[in-house]
Amino acid sequence: MPNRSSTWYEEAVIYSIDVEKFADGNGDGIGDFIGLTEKLTYLSELGITCIWLLPFFRSPDRDNGYDVSDFYTVNPKVGTLDDFLAFLHGAGEHGIRVIIDLVVNHTSDQHPWFQAARRDDETRYRDYYVWSADPPPVAVGAKSIFPGEVDSLWTYDEVARAYYFHHFYDFQPELNAANPQVREEILRIVDYWIAFGVSGFRLDAAPLIIANKGLEHANPRDPHGILRQIGAYLRSRRPGGVLVGEVNLPPEASDAFFGEGDQLQLLLNFMLACYLFAGFAKEDAAAINQGLSLLPEPPAGCGWVNFLRNLDELDFSRVPTDLKQAVFEVFAPKKEMQVFDRGIRRRVAPMLNGDQRRIEMAFSIVFSLKGPPLVVYGDEIGIGEDLSRPGRDAVRVPMQWSAEKNGGFSTANTGKLYQPVVTEGKFSYKKVNVADQEKDPGSLLNKVRRFINLRRNQPIFTKGRAVRLSATDPAVLVHGFEDAGDLLLLVHNLADRRIETEIHFGGMQPKRFRDLIDDAEFEVVKKPRLELEPYAYRWLISKGNGS
Ligand code: BGC
Repeated sequence: MPNRSSTWYEEAVIYSIDVEKFADGNGDGIGDFIGLTEKLTYLSELGITCIWLLPFFRSPDRDNGYDVSDFYTVNPKVGTLDDFLAFLHGAGEHGIRVIIDLVVNHTSDQHPWFQAARRDDETRYRDYYVWSADPPPVAVGAKSIFPGEVDSLWTYDEVARAYYFHHFYDFQPELNAANPQVREEILRIVDYWIAFGVSGFRLDAAPLIIANKGLEHANPRDPHGILRQIGAYLRSRRPGGVLVGEVNLPPEASDAFFGEGDQLQLLLNFMLACYLFAGFAKEDAAAINQGLSLLPEPPAGCGWVNFLRNLDELDFSRVPTDLKQAVFEVFAPKKEMQVFDRGIRRRVAPMLNGDQRRIEMAFSIVFSLKGPPLVVYGDEIGIGEDLSRPGRDAVRVPMQWSAEKNGGFSTANTGKLYQPVVTEGKFSYKKVNVADQEKDPGSLLNKVRRFINLRRNQPIFTKGRAVRLSATDPAVLVHGFEDAGDLLLLVHNLADRRIETEIHFGGMQPKRFRDLIDDAEFEVVKKPRLELEPYAYRWLISKGNGS
C-alpha cells in the first residue's frame, strides 16, 4: 500500500436526509432545519460522519426539490438561511460534515433564467438552455429518464416559439453546459455554499450534464472538462472538498468520471446495489462477487460509495435482464412495487420481510466493503414504505421517532402532514421507531451503531488492501482487508439455513482471530471451518502475520 493517509471522505460514513421528511421543528407538518438541528445528537450517537442533504432550495417541488427555481435561497418550507446556518454550525460542533446536492443539469421552468430565456431570444439567458426551432430526430436509444410519464426530450414553448431540451420532466429544462456563462453560474453556486462551510456536493445527474443534448452547439468539446473545472474550483475554495457523483452508468463508462482523481472523487455505487440484492435473492455469493469484479478500481484518493437504497427507485436498467428478474420475483413481485419498468420502490426492511437477522447481514456487507457506506435516513431503524403514494414517494416516508402522535415526526394535525407517516402493519411507527430501539440493546439501530463504530475504529478498512476470498458453501460471501500482516476477514451467510463451511484463504495462513462483533477469541485449528447461523455475519481480525 502507498503510504498515503486517507482523506476524510474515504473514511466517511454518509447519511442522506430529505429535510422535509426528517423532523418538523415548528409544527407545520413539514420537516425543517430547526427539527433537523434538534436531531444532531441522535446522528452523532449513530456515529455517521457526513450528512448528505437532498435539495433544500427554493423550488416548486414537482420533483422532490430537484427542480430548483433559486439556487441561493433556502426553500421557506424548510426554514431560513439562518436556520440552515444554525444546522451547519451544530453539525460542525458534533464533528459531522455536510455535503449538499448540486443540481445543475437543469433548472425548474420557474427559474428566472428560463423565464427570461423564453421571453426574449436576444437575452443572454436564451443560450443558458438548449433550444431548437426544429429539433433533430432524437438519437437511437436516447429516452426520457421517466419513461411512461414523459415521452419526448423536446417540448414546445409557446412563448419562446421554440422547443427546449430535457431528459427529465418538461418542467426541468436542461442547462447548456457548453456555454461558458452557464459554467460561471455553476461555480458561483459552488462558491456561495462553500463559503458557509459545506464540505462538498453530490453532483446530480453528472453524466447528463456532459451529455449530448441533441444539438451540435450544446456538446461541450471536452465534455469532462466541466467536471474538472468544478472539482478544481471547489478544492481551490475548500481544500479537501469532495464531489460525489450520481453516475448511474455501466461500470466501464463510470470510470471516466473519476478521471485521474481530478473530477468526482466518490461515485455512488448503483450497480453494486443491484448485485447485492441479487445475492440476497438467490442466496448466492457469486452474484455479489460478480458485481465486485465488474467495478473499476478507483484512482488513489477516490472511491465507491456503497449503499442498499437511495431515495429514488432501486434501478435495474443497467444490469442483465435475468438478474433484474431474479430480484423482482423475490423482492418486488407485485406491479405496485415497481416503477418505470426498471426499478423497485420499496425500502430495505420490507424487501427483506422485516427479518432483522437478514437486514443486519445486508448492512454488515455495506459497512464492511471498501469505500464509504451510505445509509438513507430511516433505514437504520428499518422503516417501511407506503405503496399507496405515487411513484418514488413510496420510499420517502417521514422518519419515525417514537410511538407518539405522527411517529414523533411532527406535532401538526395528522391531516396537515407533508406526507403521511406509516401507520399500518409491522412497519407502523408504533412498532418501528427510534425511541423504542434506543432502549433495546439488540435493536437494528444499536446494531447499525455498532457497525459504524467498529468500522470507524478499524483503519484497515481504508488503509488495507481489499481481498476477495471464498468459502466452500456458495451462500457464504467472504471478503477481507489485509495490511502489513493483519487480516480482517468478513464472512456473511446469505442463506436462511445453518451452514458449516470451510474458508479458503488464498496464500494467507491466519491462525488466531478476534471476533469484533462479539469480542470473542477464535482459533483456526487445522482447517479454517466456520459455523454460521442463518444470515449470520462475522467480522474477524487476525493481527500480525496471522498469529
Ligand atoms: C434525483 C432524482 C431526480 C433527478 C432529477 C436524480 O439524481 O435523485 O430524484 O428526479 O435527479 O434531478
